[in-house]
Amino acid sequence: MTGFTAKAPARANIIGEHTDYAANQGHVLPTPLPFHTWAAVAERAGAAGQLSISSESFGNQPYDRRADDEPRGHWTDYVIGCVRVFSKKTKLPALEIKIKSDVPIGCGISSSAALCVAVIRALKGLTGADPGDAQIALMAHEAEHDFVGVPCGKMDQFAASLGRPGQALLLNTKTLTTRHYPLAANTAIMLVNCGRKHDLAKGGGYKQRVAECTEARRLLGVGTLCELGTMDLDRLSALPDLTARRARHVITENLRVLEFVAALEAGDLERQADLLAASHASQRDDFEVSIPEIDALVESSKRFGIRGARIVGGGFGGAIIALVPREQAVAWWSFVAKENPKSQLISTYALKNDENEYAA
Ligand code: GLA
Repeated sequence: MTGFTAKAPARANIIGEHTDYAANQGHVLPTPLPFHTWAAVAERAGAAGQLSISSESFGNQPYDRRADDEPRGHWTDYVIGCVRVFSKKTKLPALEIKIKSDVPIGCGISSSAALCVAVIRALKGLTGADPGDAQIALMAHEAEHDFVGVPCGKMDQFAASLGRPGQALLLNTKTLTTRHYPLAANTAIMLVNCGRKHDLAKGGGYKQRVAECTEARRLLGVGTLCELGTMDLDRLSALPDLTARRARHVITENLRVLEFVAALEAGDLERQADLLAASHASQRDDFEVSIPEIDALVESSKRFGIRGARIVGGGFGGAIIALVPREQAVAWWSFVAKENPKSQLISTYALKNDENEYAA
């Protein structure tokens, strides 16, 4: 067994936010970004289960941990979770694991799924085991959800494991079926961080939304909220106002994903913009996961003339995503940056097209 290195990308979700919880099981439409986490794994001397984990991105200090350690609120927990899940099926020796990443943290582009998928891919390479991409995504989800204890859905891990550069991945989080769609070549995906971080592992707000959706499902007596469609929206009036609004976001957002895919196939940019705007309004008013700094970015985008902009990721901070015609991308960002001096541009296909892999 020699060493093995693997990488996995961050993701932006184009549309389908908060639809992937276990209580909801709707559709999502993420795409991988040109930011990556690399994991290098190698056998080292010592008893099975002994791990030495370090990261160039976090000061290079090696952490001696064990595969049977409990999580302690440290980034190495994610790595331990992956080792633990992987070793259920494949025996692992003592390991040295080195991590390197250029994924910005806390912006809602899923640095944690990139880390977990990279580690599992590297373990697969090291051992010659044969989990497929969907299996890798499920293992990464188990590590993050069950071991680290983040109450997340499965979107991020599937995006990191199955996503293809320049393509949107339609994932049905109930059946786990996927389909790839090419993104519009003349549209830049602009991601702008508002300056306030979000942290799902600590985030009470996200956890609360998961609980609220579970309660809505219970009160409605359905298997999942995304079984419901437009014709069922009347049923929400029987619920307490807050629960009804949470459920309305999930049901309408799920339908917006499918409409967005149709608009993508038809090349209908106006419809795509309308759907992103509706997604933001629904997350701001019904699901209440936006914050004033994010709303300000979306309003700036509208003032510039781009209404296809919305909050992206887990919410309560992080970033917006906007779909901007390529030739307007630079002017759009100058305008938004001037109105929001604390914001930072995270990634854009338009400005990173030197990376062949990601040039649309
Ligand atoms: C986070 C979670 C995902 C998903 C999004 C919101 O990124 O990890 O599973 O719920 O928030 O759409």
